[in-house]
Amino acid sequence: MKNKETYTLITGGSGGLGKALAEECAGRGMNLILAALPDKELARTSEYIKNKYKVKVWIYGVDLVQRDAPEKIHAFCEHNGLTVNMLINNAGASGHAVFEKSAIAYNELRIHLNLRALVLLTRLFIPSMKKLDFCLP
Ligand SMILES: NC(=O)c1ccc[n+]([C@@H]2O[C@H](COP(=O)([O-])OP(=O)(O)OC[C@H]3O[C@@H](n4cnc5c(N)ncnc54)[C@H](OP(=O)(O)O)[C@@H]3O)[C@@H](O)[C@H]2O)c1
Repeated sequence: MKNKETYTLITGGSGGLGKALAEECAGRGMNLILAALPDKELARTSEYIKNKYKVKVWIYGVDLVQRDAPEKIHAFCEHNGLTVNMLINNAGASGHAVFEKSAIAYNELRIHLNLRALVLLTRLFIPSMKKLDFCLP
């Protein structure tokens, strides 16, 4: 399936390493979908990248800790006809708590964000990604 308009989906693409990855992709002419917590940073990063690199950028504000977040992102892409050919599972939370003293909620957040969300996103997007010819520009 060549010459189809495609998008790179980057979680946590509003700041930090995710934003750096977004700029790297945009610099190669790749269109983007940035999914991160719904705040002003997401819109600001999108505008900055659109103006600087002249690529298409969609944003989706979402808390990836929420159980239905992966399905919501996938449905958003389907609804808007956005074909994802690359998924960058960047969003995550680090931490330095001593495990045996750490709160249950602290661990739950990391399991949902650092593990569950990216496994399910990969599961949801991989069937359509496998149908595409992809090589990094
Ligand atoms: N920096 C390092 O030295 C380092 C080292 C090893 C691994 N990593 C990993 O690399 C990734 C990026 O690190 P970073 O330093 O760039 O982190 P960061 O500056 O904290 O950025 C994290 C990104 O993830 C988003 N995010 C956080 N919680 C979220 C949630 N619940 N739902 C949706 N999006 C969420 C943030 O969105 P908002 O901007 O809206 O908050 C932000 O865009 C993380 O997975 C981190 O664990 C980083």
